[in-house]
Amino acid sequence: MKKLGLNEIRKRFLDFFESKDHYVRQSYPLVPQGDDSLLLINAGMAPMKAYFMGKEEPPKKRMATCQKCIRTGDIENVGVTARHATFFEMLGNFSFGDYFKRESINWGWEFVTKHLEIPADKIWISVYEDDDEAFEIWNKEVGIPAERMVRLGKEDNFWEIGVGPCGPCSELYYDRGEAYGCGSPDCKPGCDCDRYLEFWNHVFTQFDKDEEGVYHPLPSPNIDTGMGLERMACIMQDVNTIFEVDTIRHILNGVLAISGAEYGKDAKNDTSIRIITDHVRAVTFMIADGVLPSNEGRGYVLRRLLRRAARHGKLLGVEGAFLVNLMEKVIEVSGDAYPELIEKRDYIKKILRIEEDRFQETIDQGMDMLKDHMENVKASGSDTISGEDAFKLYDTYGFPVDLTKEIAEEEGLNVDEEGFESEMEKQRERARSARGDMEGAGWKEDVFDSLDSSIKSEFMGYEKLQMESTVLVIVKENELVDSASEGEKVTIILDKTPFYAESGGQAGDKGELISGGFKARVTDTQKGLNARIHHEVVVESGQIKTGQRVDALVLEEMRMATGRNHTATHMLHTALKHVLGTHVEQSGSLVSHEKLRFDFTHFESISKEELLEVERIVNINILKAHKVDVIDASLEEAKKMGATALFGEKYGDRVRVVKMGDYSMELCGGTHLENTSQVGLFKILSESGVAAGVRRIEAVTGMAVYNMLNQKQALIEEVCSVLKAKEDNIVNRSGAVMSQMKDMEKEISSMKSKLLSSSIDDILNNKESVDGVGFIAYKFENTDMDSLRDSADKLRDKMGSAVIVLANIDGDKVNFVCAATKDLMAKGVHAGNIVKEVAKMTGGGGGGRPDMAQAGGKDPSKVDEALSKVADIIKSQLK
Ligand code: ALA
Repeated sequence: MKKLGLNEIRKRFLDFFESKDHYVRQSYPLVPQGDDSLLLINAGMAPMKAYFMGKEEPPKKRMATCQKCIRTGDIENVGVTARHATFFEMLGNFSFGDYFKRESINWGWEFVTKHLEIPADKIWISVYEDDDEAFEIWNKEVGIPAERMVRLGKEDNFWEIGVGPCGPCSELYYDRGEAYGCGSPDCKPGCDCDRYLEFWNHVFTQFDKDEEGVYHPLPSPNIDTGMGLERMACIMQDVNTIFEVDTIRHILNGVLAISGAEYGKDAKNDTSIRIITDHVRAVTFMIADGVLPSNEGRGYVLRRLLRRAARHGKLLGVEGAFLVNLMEKVIEVSGDAYPELIEKRDYIKKILRIEEDRFQETIDQGMDMLKDHMENVKASGSDTISGEDAFKLYDTYGFPVDLTKEIAEEEGLNVDEEGFESEMEKQRERARSARGDMEGAGWKEDVFDSLDSSIKSEFMGYEKLQMESTVLVIVKENELVDSASEGEKVTIILDKTPFYAESGGQAGDKGELISGGFKARVTDTQKGLNARIHHEVVVESGQIKTGQRVDALVLEEMRMATGRNHTATHMLHTALKHVLGTHVEQSGSLVSHEKLRFDFTHFESISKEELLEVERIVNINILKAHKVDVIDASLEEAKKMGATALFGEKYGDRVRVVKMGDYSMELCGGTHLENTSQVGLFKILSESGVAAGVRRIEAVTGMAVYNMLNQKQALIEEVCSVLKAKEDNIVNRSGAVMSQMKDMEKEISSMKSKLLSSSIDDILNNKESVDGVGFIAYKFENTDMDSLRDSADKLRDKMGSAVIVLANIDGDKVNFVCAATKDLMAKGVHAGNIVKEVAKMTGGGGGGRPDMAQAGGKDPSKVDEALSKVADIIKSQLK
């Protein structure tokens, strides 16, 4: 058996199935498209569910892919064992109602024995216990002796995930020889030992499992196969673990080079090395597919993997950020097969760097927290950091318990590891129940699923805004109906339509359907299955039946306004790249007739000057009146032309390229203007941050800018009338008003303080004493803190030796100030503690230095009583 590199195995597989008339497609993005049931693609068939269910038509009935996959269910085991990985590639061939068992089995055999040249006698086969058909094909047609075949039960040979397409399967196993076996005479595939390695699963997808657990036969049986590429490479390279496979070892070597660690010397270090190796593959691919680190969903998966890798780097003693360096290793071995990695290299780098730096800060915060914990533990006379605290450090600051332990040991402390484990288990339980909720969601059937796949609607709205069409389907409250009458809300599907269905961030069209006395308002247009276009309508008069003709009319002015915003969105995208840099990538967009909203990646705040420059560039290019051309091209041609493609979009084979002179070129399915000059004018309304590394711009165009100008003008006129000034003088006038106000405030404050001084003598009349200590407890109303402090100082100076407690009631607010002279402090008087107690009696708190302190209270009605206690408080303080 010849040794084959991982990249070579992938190529041979895809070439082989291409020669069997399969459409070989680039891997789908890791982020599921139009499927909420999954966080990340976890199998070759996952992005094709709709094809298996017959809900959507595949580009071809035979397909083959090498699919990027991520599974995080076993994340705790990754690195600990040498078998687990979060990221892997799955080779698969698929038939959607085309070929079935016979071809799948025969081709499978042909590929592994002829193209990989695996010796036939090393291969064992398992089939589902009742599947005589598969058994016969393997045994009679392929010629596998019955001794090398096993029949296994549902557990092993029936493939399903949650609800959806599933079926019996047949697996190919590789016999690694007795040396790996358990020695039992019954050792066969299905045994728990390591001798038989399962490497290719052929699923005969013939059922659709519903939520009640009932298996419904699918309209036509399908084939879904999956071969773990890394595992196959283990076999072809005769190595024990995926970490020794050529491409992965290359990354692992990178980890060794950076850390100076050796592989295979120390079990703990090996775990860290494997974790970093696996995780850096996963994060590189995830970021390239547009996932951004965050605290929820797939963003959290990314953050967790990234931090786990970073902190294991710390355990290996790596100083500073290192993931970018390793990302290069991933690109070196996978860039040819996944060109998006090369295209997005700079971008991936940026995200990795920011997140790793941020983690560095978090870890520093965590260190502070750990130090606190350790001090508390010591102060309490214990020597063990609680499991809860260790877990909190782990969960919030990404501190691995090992790191906590290490640091604690240096201080002669332990960590309650059992307690930590039990917190961990609670966390796993929470994660499990969260995952449980995810499984199977999004498969709910509705009436549109039951429609024959021949029912389609043709979109004509690029050229036309009105046309005559035939009503194919009417749906009311999730039921098919034959007609709809006045007052009813229904969904209508037409054979062809000028209505644009919401997609690519552009809102659905609105308009009317009219026929004789029938008139319905289209309130929204949405995409349905099988590229059908759903018109959400309210019937205003008359009645319509399926099969009847209607005039479909899109509201022209609204469509134009939407077009303005869409064309301006592309122009904004280009201008942002010019001004901020090529790392700017669209991460979301919303285009309606009212405004546009554009989210994009950028890692700093945007200055006012930059924003103005962006706006200026867009407006200049509006005025340049670039012709807007739409070119139909293959995806490859489009990329060659230099068109901007969006992250993780599931583009078909043919794409639309929207080109605005030499200024902008983007792949886009939306509706645009004919010339940029039709945008009129472009004005940014706001700029803000929406998530780490993502900024948002909202803007308007055309009439909305004109309306905004009018509103601003009206506002200025109103301000003029309030200020009694002419427009060219409002800045001067408002400046003068402000400075006049400041002067008046100053004057008021000085008058207040003069008033206070004259009242100081009155206040002195309230002097009392307790145990030879002179004091004053006095209440003001409606004064301010400055005056209060001022009065306390003055009274203290005048009295020479005294305690002064002053209160102020201002509405429902209460403030206290307390001052004490030095001689009394020596006797035990403490102003801070006095004011604290007084404030407490009015429901507040505060405190401060022994000579001067202040506090706030809540209940004005308690102030008198509180002040009457001052004598007692002073008394209690005296030594
Ligand atoms: N979908 C099958 C699997 O993941 C091929 O094993």
